[in-house]
Amino acid sequence: MDQAAKKKQAALAALEFIRPGMSLGVGTGSTVNYLIDALPPVARSLAAVVASSKATESRLEANGIPVRALDEVGDLDLYIDGADEANAQFHLVKGGGGALTREKVLAGASRRFVCIIDDSKWVDVLGAFPLPVEVIPMARSFVARQFVKLGGRPVWRQDFVTDNGNQVIDVHGLRITDPLDLEARVNQWPGVVTVGLFAARPADVLLIAGGGGTRRLDRA
Ligand code: 5RP
Repeated sequence: MDQAAKKKQAALAALEFIRPGMSLGVGTGSTVNYLIDALPPVARSLAAVVASSKATESRLEANGIPVRALDEVGDLDLYIDGADEANAQFHLVKGGGGALTREKVLAGASRRFVCIIDDSKWVDVLGAFPLPVEVIPMARSFVARQFVKLGGRPVWRQDFVTDNGNQVIDVHGLRITDPLDLEARVNQWPGVVTVGLFAARPADVLLIAGGGGTRRLDRA
């Protein structure tokens, strides 16, 4: 089974978490796109759907699903999103698609966060995938220098602007043994909008698709 098939399998497994009357937050990326394309039959029964990016909003609307603003809807019952890496503590690296800020807002606003990944993203230690960090443009070099002091190799994601008008640096070479601590520290640096570590608000459920089916893990 190739990676695309696993992504689709994980996305379809998430459908069983959706109940009539729920407010649903929808993440961003190629895994979530399979979910969006399967949503129309259940979307009508939902109270509201909120998107984590302009790309997701466009795809939802192309599927005939109206999208509402988080401000109007309030807290969400369920948030479904992919990730670039996940560990046994349900901590995630996210932001490969550059939507990390709005994704973190929706995860924070949700009572339950179901994360859908293929088994290539399941890791012992986070950091092999370069850590995305959204920064305001004038702080890019300053923030990059702070990562160099930690032993990272920051690379500016050139020709990319986030939905919020900001820039992204991808930090290579980190071995993130304490994600909670690193997230808290980076959050303090001026100019950082969002670090793509989801540890303070981890996933509640991981759906991990592999060749033998989809494994479900629930956070205690
Ligand atoms: C976007 C994300 C995505 O969830 C992450 O990059 C995984 O993407 P994909 O499903 O395409 O592998 O965080 O900002």
